[in-house]
Amino acid sequence: MSEESAPKIFVPANEARRLVQDILKGNGVSPDHAAIIARCLVAADLRGVDTHGMNRIPSYMERIRQGVLNAGAQPELKHVTPVVVQVDGRNGFGFVAAHMGMQAAIEAAKVYGIGLASVKHSNHFGMSAWVVQQALDDNMMSLVFTNSSPALPAWGGKEKLMGVSPIACGAPGKGKGGDMENFILDMAPSVAARGKIYKAKRRGEKIPLDWALDSEGRPTDDPEAALGGVMLPMGGPKGSALAIMMDVFSGVLSGSAFAGHVTNPYDPSRPADVGHFLVAVKPDLFIGLDEFRDRMEYLYRRVVGSEKAAGVERIYFPGEIEQLTQRERERSGIPLVRAEVDALNEEARRVGAAELKL
Ligand SMILES: NC(=O)c1ccc[n+]([C@@H]2O[C@H](COP(=O)([O-])OP(=O)(O)OC[C@H]3O[C@@H](n4cnc5c(N)ncnc54)[C@H](O)[C@@H]3O)[C@@H](O)[C@H]2O)c1
Repeated sequence: MSEESAPKIFVPANEARRLVQDILKGNGVSPDHAAIIARCLVAADLRGVDTHGMNRIPSYMERIRQGVLNAGAQPELKHVTPVVVQVDGRNGFGFVAAHMGMQAAIEAAKVYGIGLASVKHSNHFGMSAWVVQQALDDNMMSLVFTNSSPALPAWGGKEKLMGVSPIACGAPGKGKGGDMENFILDMAPSVAARGKIYKAKRRGEKIPLDWALDSEGRPTDDPEAALGGVMLPMGGPKGSALAIMMDVFSGVLSGSAFAGHVTNPYDPSRPADVGHFLVAVKPDLFIGLDEFRDRMEYLYRRVVGSEKAAGVERIYFPGEIEQLTQRERERSGIPLVRAEVDALNEEARRVGAAELKL
């Protein structure tokens, strides 16, 4: 039976956060940082971005055990100008460093209209949309860029060079925080995120033929062969250019690794040295906030109400599918398969934490 058709175990979000926090604290993460990381990981599970949720815990803990991720690191923040901060993640969790950077960018934007954080010596921060949501919770627009380990070729190449680095941004809609009309774009510049290939591998499933090439440069539906080859950029050279853009802003600019030198989060042999680029923008710089929200709602209605192409049942705003999934999972819980629950419980047992209460 594939894991997709396997029976699901539904875990309430608060129990998921409790488990993740306990595992993190048992591995040397401070309670404050554990709370931030658990919130970000479970936010991905709630939004249906299962590839970047709590199932990442075993690989992150392996990095701590191997000594290549510093569980107890306290990021260092310094102001470069009144609106620009630099965060040194000190090889701690990317979630913590990015959270600190975005918070500083938001505070600057409240006073000056815009705030920018450059983050260096960081790690994988999972789903970019949680950083966008952090800004939305303070009524801010945002740009959220990161670089990542090599997976994509430069257009025309066959060597893994650029990361499948997501480009994300957001703007507040009509309702305050978490409402459907918020604009949240969060997309990897590949045909599919690499996490989806890891998930297919974990679940023993095939992948579509247009996602990746094997090591010989041939299309493949085998996730194992795909992981040994290269991901395909979306839109050919345009996706490849977006991946390079993420590296310019997150890697070159920050002083972190770039040009193919970021380490894969599943490779526990050396620090990752990821860079991030985070911007917060006050939406009521030129018009009032209420007018901005009204205009966003008008845009939303125009988009979702536009005439549908043949065979299309519904048109969605960017981020809307994930926001609908979140509402559903807040009620029903997060669906996991037995192997995923077992892997999390194994991590809990290692540190003497309580297993998932089901
Ligand atoms: N930290 C990292 O290094 C890293 C690397 C790769 C991916 N990721 C994460 O992986 C996740 C998945 O990325 P992805 O590119 O596979 O996402 P995706 O293809 O599922 O979605 C991309 C965007 O398209 C929108 N969308 C999807 N279907 C739609 C539809 N039918 N109508 C309207 N809009 C629609 C989504 O709301 C989203 O904004 C993201 O959260 C990303 O941040 C992280």
